[in-house]
Amino acid sequence: MIETGDFSFDNRLVSAQETEEDTSLERGIRPLSLAEYIGQDKVKENMAIYMEAAKRREGALDHVLLYGPPGLGKTTLSAIIAREMGVNLRITTGPAIERPGDLAAILTNLSPGDVLFIDEIHRLNRAVEEILYPALEDHAIDIIVGKGPSARSLRVDLPEFTLVGATTRAGQLSAPLRDRFGIVQRLELYTPDQLCDIIRRSAQILNIPCTADGAYELAKRSRGTPRIANRLLKRVRDFADVIGNGEITQKIANTALTRLEIDQLGLDSNDRRMLHMIIKGYGGGPVGLETLAAALGEEAVTLEDVCEPFLMQLGFLSRTPRGRCATQLAYQHLGYPVTPGQNENQLSLPNTAED
Ligand code: ADE
Repeated sequence: MIETGDFSFDNRLVSAQETEEDTSLERGIRPLSLAEYIGQDKVKENMAIYMEAAKRREGALDHVLLYGPPGLGKTTLSAIIAREMGVNLRITTGPAIERPGDLAAILTNLSPGDVLFIDEIHRLNRAVEEILYPALEDHAIDIIVGKGPSARSLRVDLPEFTLVGATTRAGQLSAPLRDRFGIVQRLELYTPDQLCDIIRRSAQILNIPCTADGAYELAKRSRGTPRIANRLLKRVRDFADVIGNGEITQKIANTALTRLEIDQLGLDSNDRRMLHMIIKGYGGGPVGLETLAAALGEEAVTLEDVCEPFLMQLGFLSRTPRGRCATQLAYQHLGYPVTPGQNENQLSLPNTAED
């Protein structure tokens, strides 16, 4: 497996952004087959059929777009696809492919049927995207050779390959690129039960003793995200080793997570800061995303990709045509008084961003 690309660094324990530590942790515990992969049942069922059909036709799998919040297993799934199709996997990211020549070099080195995984595909630049269209559709690229009046376009044939694109923001893909994916799958946040299974599986692989209710306590507080669940497992193990007898019990998990300032529902200080700002700074909302981001000193994309999916899943945040609003549930959770009729004028449209 060849890996290129950049990783974002973020010290937040419950951030879903991948860190170098996660990469090495995940390498050892990543499921290698669809059968081992927990959750995302619809995606698994569909992919199993598409892969079987492609194998029977002895052709490459159609191009796949995986989208959804970070940390849910898009890279893992692409590795499983390559493995189950019996082909090589080439991993890169949108921002790492700076020039058309970079992409041409990757594409011309693929073998028939290979999977090319491009993470953060919404960050590909225009010039690179233009090269990708004929590669996806006609398995060929047009390379300009020479300069000035003597420049010529040379068509280079490529082997049939499968592009697996991953993005946290499908809405930012250009329509021509989106239309070239035959298979589009959305990954959902995991339920606590599914995360509990993932934690118990990881604990077993890493030889970490963990009781069922200890695992469940971690699962409930992992923001629906396996990457966070596995990270918390490692941190709580330290507490179990030092203040307990090495086993992660519910009590140890609770003590550790409280010390890490992760509350009963998995909110960390940044989530709470965001909700406090909406409630105290903007009367509960509506407040525009950019305004909120500036007030918090955060990037709007971080709020949108990392905080919001989970806060919306909890029913703590609603998106309205006029901005973000904290709901009554958020007021209750943070201990603010709830006034009758509050939020009444906040028509909730879950997937409508105002800016
Ligand atoms: N580790 C991370 N994500 C996983 C998943 N979906 N199933 C099993 N183990 C995982």
